[in-house]
Amino acid sequence: MDKNITPYKDSSLGKKEQVAKMFDTISGNYDNLNRVISFGIDVKWRKKVLKIVNDNKPETILDIATGTGDLAILMSNTSAKEIIGLDISAGMLEVGIKKVAQKNLSDRIEMILGDSEKIPFDDNHFDAITVAFGVRNFENLEKGLAEILRVLKPNGTFVILETSVPEKTPYKQGYNFYSRNILPIIGKLFSKDNVAYGYLSESAAAFPYGEALNNILRKTGFIDVKAMPQTFGVATIYVASKK
Ligand SMILES: C[S@@+](CC[C@H](N)C(=O)[O-])C[C@H]1O[C@@H](n2cnc3c(N)ncnc32)[C@H](O)[C@@H]1O
Repeated sequence: MDKNITPYKDSSLGKKEQVAKMFDTISGNYDNLNRVISFGIDVKWRKKVLKIVNDNKPETILDIATGTGDLAILMSNTSAKEIIGLDISAGMLEVGIKKVAQKNLSDRIEMILGDSEKIPFDDNHFDAITVAFGVRNFENLEKGLAEILRVLKPNGTFVILETSVPEKTPYKQGYNFYSRNILPIIGKLFSKDNVAYGYLSESAAAFPYGEALNNILRKTGFIDVKAMPQTFGVATIYVASKK
């Protein structure tokens, strides 16, 4: 992906540090914003991810870019013995750790600070790995995906939930209007960080989706790659596995 799309245009920091800083800043408002921006539909998409993961009865699950932990928390509906949420933003994790504790899930879900480009686990460790709205923010997409492939077990399940761009009229035009005009205003109203939601819509428009992301997954070494567009294509669930 285009490394030039970063949150803070005039920053001397690299994309990774800028992304961590931005999510640290918006962490307190993130959950509310997320629901408003997606009109709550993200909850339905997350449940689909849970179903896909649960179909293979995983014992070990890693939720990368877990943020405030919604997907990791949902994974407690599986019978997995190990559920890990990993993120580079200490601020997002702090909110997530509180949510996990409030739901009495601290003994089932471990939330750790870490980088998708250097995952602190051995090869072939996880039965299932998920990333929701995270891959778009990776500084180096290919490196992050290669690390995910490394720690995934053979025949394991990898699921990405990510924004995409509707291709059909009138959804395409509606989406463009919403993301260019409405999304940044909602972001500014709700968020302390003025640039954050400008970055989020800009990066969503530029990120590869559908067959383009399928091809990147295949090139990384994933097999059985499939893209399933959701809600007119505003998001896509990608499923892949390892030989
Ligand atoms: C839009 S949030 C998504 C959070 C959560 N998965 C959800 O569905 O609500 C993106 C998250 O990706 C994290 N992130 C970005 N780059 C990362 C990396 N290289 N390693 C781990 N987490 C990363 C950010 O810190 C942020 O919490």
